Amino acid sequence: TESYPDIQRDSRFSKVTEEHVKYFKEILGSGSAVLESVTNDAAQDDIEPFNGDWMKKYRGHCRLVLRPGSTEEVSKILKYCNDNMLAVVPQGGNTGLVGGSVPVFDEIVINMGRMNQVRDFDDVSGTLVVDAGVILEAADKFLSEKGYIFPLDLGAKGSCQIGGNVACNAGGLRLLRYGSLHGNVLGIEAVLPDGTIVDDLWKLRKNNTGYDLKQLFIGGEGTIGIITGISIQCPQRPKAVNVAFFGLESFEQTQQAFREAKSHLSEILSAFELMDNQAHTLVQRVTQNKRPLEGEYPFYCLVETSGSNTEHDSEKLQAFLEDVMEKGIVADGTLAENETQIQSLWAWREGIAEALGHLGGVYKYDVSIPLKEMYGLVEDTRARINEAGLLGDTEEHPVIDVVGYGHMGDSNLHLNIATRHFDKRVEKVLEPFVYEWIKERQGSISAEHGLGLAKKKYIGYSRSDTMIELMKQIKKLYDPNGIMNPYKYI
Ligand code: FAD
Ligand code: MLT
Ligand code: ZN
Repeated sequence: TESYPDIQRDSRFSKVTEEHVKYFKEILGSGSAVLESVTNDAAQDDIEPFNGDWMKKYRGHCRLVLRPGSTEEVSKILKYCNDNMLAVVPQGGNTGLVGGSVPVFDEIVINMGRMNQVRDFDDVSGTLVVDAGVILEAADKFLSEKGYIFPLDLGAKGSCQIGGNVACNAGGLRLLRYGSLHGNVLGIEAVLPDGTIVDDLWKLRKNNTGYDLKQLFIGGEGTIGIITGISIQCPQRPKAVNVAFFGLESFEQTQQAFREAKSHLSEILSAFELMDNQAHTLVQRVTQNKRPLEGEYPFYCLVETSGSNTEHDSEKLQAFLEDVMEKGIVADGTLAENETQIQSLWAWREGIAEALGHLGGVYKYDVSIPLKEMYGLVEDTRARINEAGLLGDTEEHPVIDVVGYGHMGDSNLHLNIATRHFDKRVEKVLEPFVYEWIKERQGSISAEHGLGLAKKKYIGYSRSDTMIELMKQIKKLYDPNGIMNPYKYI
């Protein structure tokens, strides 16, 4: 509890007792389905991984983890928790970056990892139906054998779950091409705190019969119910994928390159990603890999095309690269020539989060800002950290660097402040400064990661009082006792 001096445990919630544990063991069996240290202190070690988040920034103190194997079990668990005022935290792969997937105090973790079956696939329409606990990479592998692709891809694919992706409406590396989960998810099965099973696992694209209630679960961050099943529209897997990586001298030129990419590559453009030299350098420091380009440039962009004809697509990409180099927009560039090179170029972008994590504590701001002003946030934050005397990569001056990267094609910037260790002095310099900066430009303080615990206090920077009040009404309607993921943003 010392970790969150500003938050008080809600005394309406019960503490987990031996009797509660007995009930859960009756409905789930024991073993890996129920991990508890209520009757057995020694088991706390097995529970700890479920208490801590990916960034090692947030830590709860739960003594009970439930791992249901079916929707009916989730329903029984939630009904019992609701009747007994036991607070819960839904948890997928626990790769979330805003502290939403771990308890704050002693909330019960309901981990979805055992619900990991593909339920159905229609190889004509491309509609996939899965349990919420299916790992993203496993779903994509299943689809690749059928000639399809999952419409979402992100660096945590090896451990995040589709239920978790949907619960935080993850955006990822190809949103530019395949669009948001709000459009791709066709149906949802979920359980409400009173045990009601929301049976909206629709499989068709169109359904204009009343309110589209499933949308509330997409990006709801586990605050109104637990998603147990998802049906999703998957596109044909592109036969040809090409990747270019280039260096640029200014942020202005990255914008010009983006415009040219849209114009030259139009329907085959599938990703346009940005990273600054500071981010690139830190990845290099951690991985020790040889940089893809000889020279050093202030900015790098990764451009991917996905189409049906490799030769045709690589000609287009080649022509695009020649054109932007001739016009002096791009300083240097390279094209991947095979699958291994494609993977290694992507690793320079996808690996940033992981590399920064290795260095110590990272303050992460996932924001969306009109493109023209986007990089200004990184520059202003860097100047501010510098003025505060915190930059130095030493114990006393813990900031290693201020870096910017992100999904440029979606106006989504990741401002990260890499430090040797989390330090309240750094946080004070950053917050609310970053949020105020964004509000002034009508940006969003959470573009794709959600609010969780990290941005709990700051929702008002991107939503009006009216919108927040409407959210609270929905929360009350679906979760009148407030047991679902308490202390988080709502
Ligand atoms: P968790 O972390 O377990 O949970 C996330 C939230 O959803 C929590 O609030 C939790 O309570 C809730 N939740 C989980 N499962 C359920 C469920 N079944 N029902 C209801 N609520 C549930 N995000 C992006 O948007 N784009 C990226 O490019 C991206 N890249 C990443 C790269 C790395 C290396 C990492 C570590 C994270 C990245 N993320 C990215 C963050 C991203 O949100 C998560 O990786 C992923 O979407 C979360 O899935 P998860 O299963 O781990 O969910
Ligand atoms: C990314 O785009 O790499 C992810 O959202 C993770 C991060 O923000 O670090
Ligand atoms: Zn991202």
